[in-house]
Amino acid sequence: MKRDELDLLPGQSEELLKELHILTREGRINQDSRRKLKQVHHLYRFIEKLLRELPDEGNGATLADHGAGKSYLGFILYDLFLKQKTGGRIYGIETRAELVQRSAELAARLGFDRMSFVNISAADASEAKDLPERIDVVTALHACDTATDDAIAFGLRKHARFMVLVPCCQAEIAASLRQNKALSLSRTPLAELWRHPIHTRELGSQLTNVLRCLYMEAKGYQITVTELVGWEHSMKNELILARFTGQPKRSAAERLRAVLAEFGLQSLEASRFPL
Ligand SMILES: C[S@@+](CC[C@H](N)C(=O)[O-])C[C@H]1O[C@@H](n2cnc3c(N)ncnc32)[C@H](O)[C@@H]1O
Repeated sequence: MKRDELDLLPGQSEELLKELHILTREGRINQDSRRKLKQVHHLYRFIEKLLRELPDEGNGATLADHGAGKSYLGFILYDLFLKQKTGGRIYGIETRAELVQRSAELAARLGFDRMSFVNISAADASEAKDLPERIDVVTALHACDTATDDAIAFGLRKHARFMVLVPCCQAEIAASLRQNKALSLSRTPLAELWRHPIHTRELGSQLTNVLRCLYMEAKGYQITVTELVGWEHSMKNELILARFTGQPKRSAAERLRAVLAEFGLQSLEASRFPL
């Protein structure tokens, strides 16, 4: 197949896509892989613009990808952006040791020498010695459950300029809503919104992302929430972009506390949203 039939971007390595099993050994692509590639390209274009906003147009950009999995995003970002630069580094943070090892071997084979893979949980990454004090961009693409919250805490600690988050399923807030349900139902008719188990889960997920946005605003980030185009087959296609402005919003902190109180979630302030 020709490059334009494969929808490859200029300069993109076919060898990498074969190694990632997006292309077959013969250079063909199936429907699933085509969809995956389209999704990653979409996210790549989005992140590339952010990298170009960094000092030196991203020449020395550092990016940490939480819940990296097979590191499709990291490898494609390196191939299309960082490979051409003289500095910068991509860090993949992943709890599954075999994926970390496989990615490290692939990076070595391809000569992508400014990629590092760290076998650590997102929660412990802030303290990891193999990660630098500053990270420009934090990404977390479908990082499971609270790994997105850990990625946010990491971004705050590392003074990230941008955080690009596509949250996954979330259970923590739904569990708290469930626990306090009887009390909430006696207190407010709004508790009808999460009386039935499926609604508890859905509202929990929605509320989690709302709280995350308020938290990052309170910490000096401007927030944009959009749909991740190309992910139309996924229910989890909410894209949250946080851009550091250095202007913490007191009103967002107040709102965050008020929303936590309204839903009986005050106990989460200290663990998840320390102001
Ligand atoms: C659904 S996959 C997404 C992989 C990749 N980001 C992508 O979109 O193709 C989630 C990945 O996050 C990893 N993971 C789950 N919890 C984690 C945590 N607390 N810290 C780091 N990685 C985590 C899982 O092992 C898995 O590889």
